[in-house]
Amino acid sequence: SDDALVIFTPSGKRGRVAKGTPVLAAARALGVDLDSVCGGRGICSKCQVAPGYGEFPKHGLHVGEDALSPINAVEARYDRIRGLKEGRRLGCQACIQGDIVIDVPPESQVHRQVIRKSASERVMEMDPATRTLFIEVPEPSMHEPKGDFERLSEALAAQFGLTGLQAGLPVLAQLQKVLRKGHWQISAAVNEAGNGTPPRLVAVYPGLREAALYGLAIDLGSTTIAGHLVALDDGRVLASSGLMNPQIRFGEDLMSRVSYAMMNEGGAEEMTRAVQEAMGSLAETLATEAGVERGDIVEAVVVCNPVMHHLLLGIDPVELGQAPFALATNEALDLHAADIGLAPLAPGARAYILPLIAGHVGADCAAVALCEAPEAREDLSLIVDVGTNAEILLGNKERVLACSSPTGPAFEGAQISSGQRAAPGAIERIEIDPTTKEPRFRIIGNDFWSDDPAFGTPTITGICGSGIIEAVAEMRIAGILDPSGLIGSAEQVGTARCCATGRTHEYVIHDASPDGPRITVTQGDIRAIQLAKSALYAGARLLMDEMGVDKVDRVVLAGAFGAHISPKHAMVLGMIPDVPLEAVTSAGNAAGTGARMALCSRKSRRAIEAQVQRIVKIETAIEPRFQEHFVAANAIPHATAPFEELAK
Ligand code: FES
Repeated sequence: SDDALVIFTPSGKRGRVAKGTPVLAAARALGVDLDSVCGGRGICSKCQVAPGYGEFPKHGLHVGEDALSPINAVEARYDRIRGLKEGRRLGCQACIQGDIVIDVPPESQVHRQVIRKSASERVMEMDPATRTLFIEVPEPSMHEPKGDFERLSEALAAQFGLTGLQAGLPVLAQLQKVLRKGHWQISAAVNEAGNGTPPRLVAVYPGLREAALYGLAIDLGSTTIAGHLVALDDGRVLASSGLMNPQIRFGEDLMSRVSYAMMNEGGAEEMTRAVQEAMGSLAETLATEAGVERGDIVEAVVVCNPVMHHLLLGIDPVELGQAPFALATNEALDLHAADIGLAPLAPGARAYILPLIAGHVGADCAAVALCEAPEAREDLSLIVDVGTNAEILLGNKERVLACSSPTGPAFEGAQISSGQRAAPGAIERIEIDPTTKEPRFRIIGNDFWSDDPAFGTPTITGICGSGIIEAVAEMRIAGILDPSGLIGSAEQVGTARCCATGRTHEYVIHDASPDGPRITVTQGDIRAIQLAKSALYAGARLLMDEMGVDKVDRVVLAGAFGAHISPKHAMVLGMIPDVPLEAVTSAGNAAGTGARMALCSRKSRRAIEAQVQRIVKIETAIEPRFQEHFVAANAIPHATAPFEELAK
């Protein structure tokens, strides 16, 4: 017959193709994922395949060496110059002549799954929006009035089937030089968002560009801005860095920034400028750290809360400061990166911003939802991203609910008398002996407990978020606090560690006065933690009410802070509902991971865009039951809810 059976592994896709069809064309026709950068011209070798010869009993096939055409001149030249691995053929050159089984090795798959080195690191599925295409553009002539861009666009349409290419001015400005430098052969970085928008020319490089393109995944928080520089061929992280959000000088928390914008003419613009500048310098730091040219960075993905979102985009956030908390836009955005301060990157670099869930529940929470995918599970997950505002998701494959809860910055060590950010010298763990009431603790940057001689005499600067949570919980366990949160209930007063200050008491963790710091937990600190934890618990309860459950199956603590909280202490405090301790896990920086997933894969973008539509938003501010839950949760661990797991 005139056609042949071809079976591709590992996909298992199969079909009949006309004899003489190149393997690459057969792969395209059968929907097999086989890469090609040079358009089948035997230059890039991305299309390499490993044909199998011999018996394939499973498929009832015997395949002889003549099932593929012999090596032609193009392939021979590639082999001579660059060397072809044993058993490999160029898929764009080798033609199918008989029934055959063809293996596509992982490095020839565009959408390959990359296996990470450490088990805890997530497998990134690669399907990036921007790819490099090697293309030869016809030279101009006196008889051909078409411009360089139009001839490039036609060549891309003819060789890669890309139609309707668009280019902005910055990349057009580079095109003529690059075409001539590459002697009419260039590599074009083209962004295909995959949502129906036309392909966009992002950058042009002379000749064949074999190096990867790069992208940035940025988690824009109200306090810090953290970013990763990621290679877009396999998703590896080449550099990670962070800086303080310069908007802090306009207001510590989001609401004070919203009021800054309300009270000051031009205030919103000022904050927009500040954060965009910071984005630019973060990009620069990451590129320098990774040793990557900024012009090779072609994309960015940004996740952030709604107020930061609006301020980044130059939208006045005042509507977010008052009910009904209307967003200017909640859908995912695909922008020119330079429009949000990410410059100079590749001239046409794009920026994708994840969709927002609601007026208080941002793209950062959407990124957590993308990373944790509660909708893919049977069991009921409570996912808590603890920051100045806690964002809470509750759901399983039936339904997913979301809300945010105003915890305030106490969990981050702010508004705590001896509080500080997590940094070397800060107390991060603490234990209190229930009999003697004596503390022992650990500080960041020291491997030993304070009662170990190896601890030495380091400078102890304060207590960070995880430290204050442990301190309050340990004080409760040791009986220094009563269930209402009062320090020094009768029997404790008078111990060396429990001193009176004015009309209240405080617990002394470390006292190096008069020369050094005196680190204490005051009654005010306890109240601040009680308010924060009640808000968090009440938000979670509200979602549980809505779901009609009084238990969850698992609790996931997300956020950089979540990674450091001890589940036991969180439960002693009543921050989270009662579950078996082993059902409490940390997802690390889930928002950052979600941003990286969206950077590496268009499929992830479509998935979260669809999922956000399905998430049911609960507004805590207008819900009377929130107040009830909040009041009941003020006690440690709780006034009414049984904490059975704790009793075990
Ligand atoms: Fe480039 Fe085959 S597609 S070498």
